[in-house]
Amino acid sequence: MSDPNVPTFDHRDPNSPDFWDERFDRRFMPWDQAGVQEAFKAFAASRALHNVLIPGCGSAYEALYLAERSWTVRAIDFSPVAVATARAQLGAYGKNVEEADFFAYQPPFSPAWIYERAFLCALPKNCWGDYAQRMADLLESGALLAGFYFLGATPKGPPFGIERDELHALLTPHFELIDEREVRDSIPVFAGRERWMTWRRA
Ligand SMILES: C[S@@+](CC[C@H](N)C(=O)[O-])C[C@H]1O[C@@H](n2cnc3c(N)ncnc32)[C@H](O)[C@@H]1O
Repeated sequence: MSDPNVPTFDHRDPNSPDFWDERFDRRFMPWDQAGVQEAFKAFAASRALHNVLIPGCGSAYEALYLAERSWTVRAIDFSPVAVATARAQLGAYGKNVEEADFFAYQPPFSPAWIYERAFLCALPKNCWGDYAQRMADLLESGALLAGFYFLGATPKGPPFGIERDELHALLTPHFELIDEREVRDSIPVFAGRERWMTWRRA
């Protein structure tokens, strides 16, 4: 039986920008934190200013947070409606948001940090290998892939959860896990299954 709280949508392929456009347009965004999480703030506070890429940025609260603190940040999304939402939110910093497909995008700088939140779990499983490879290609040795991962397999998605072992198998050919933390301020869709992880490019 369908969930009466979930509207019916025309677009069902999360690999298509139309899928996400429709959800942003209709303000159905159960993944949206409407703010910046504590683990993100703690990580940013522990680092010197440097270049950050935020793929699949959605509303891009974190991009605003970093831009206001003078970080160099690029937030990208392939959904035009997500980009418009993010730009409206970022105001004077809206130029830091670009419409682009992560798998083809070349940032204007070498990222020292790529921030992950609800991006891997937005991708169907058959794209996960490409995600790992693209992250590895974009980051130089020593650079960081850090953010929130949604652990534990899900029967369907998005969000497409990933088993811990599977995430390790995906990333360890290119990255070493150097930090992992509990997350206490998750929104309901991710509650109890979201972990902050910091992976360093080998
Ligand atoms: C679940 S939302 C998460 C948004 C944001 N990271 C957050 O935490 O609120 C996933 C986002 O990834 C974007 N996306 C999915 N595939 C993408 C791709 N190949 N390139 C760029 N953006 C993509 C979608 O348009 C959507 O805005």
